[in-house]
Amino acid sequence: MPKLTVEGVGAVEVPAGKRLVLALEDEAKVDQLHACGGYARCTTCRVEFVAGEPDAMTEAEKQVLAARGLSGVRLSCQILCDHDMTVRAISRLAGSGRANVGDRPTDEITPTPVWGKKG
Ligand code: FES
Repeated sequence: MPKLTVEGVGAVEVPAGKRLVLALEDEAKVDQLHACGGYARCTTCRVEFVAGEPDAMTEAEKQVLAARGLSGVRLSCQILCDHDMTVRAISRLAGSGRANVGDRPTDEITPTPVWGKKG
């Protein structure tokens, strides 16, 4: 099982292939935001990678990061835990002023992923 390390939180084992956003919530117990429910629209599921950033990137992630001029972050709803990774959870409910983290994303990446490489 891949190991997910969240800086300042700890390291957990994650079922291989699980969406990172769900692993942050379920295994790492982080109050990770995912306001759009995992559809690569809101970017509140963003994380910073310390190690193990995937080269693969969905077209949906690429497009929304570019549209918002974001760099240095990745969208946890568009990433699968298929290897060890270390991230910083930089977008959490605590201190966000939001009422909740958002609807739970489905187990599969949405929208249906079209895989490319990060730019
Ligand atoms: S972009 Fe909204 S949850 Fe990932």
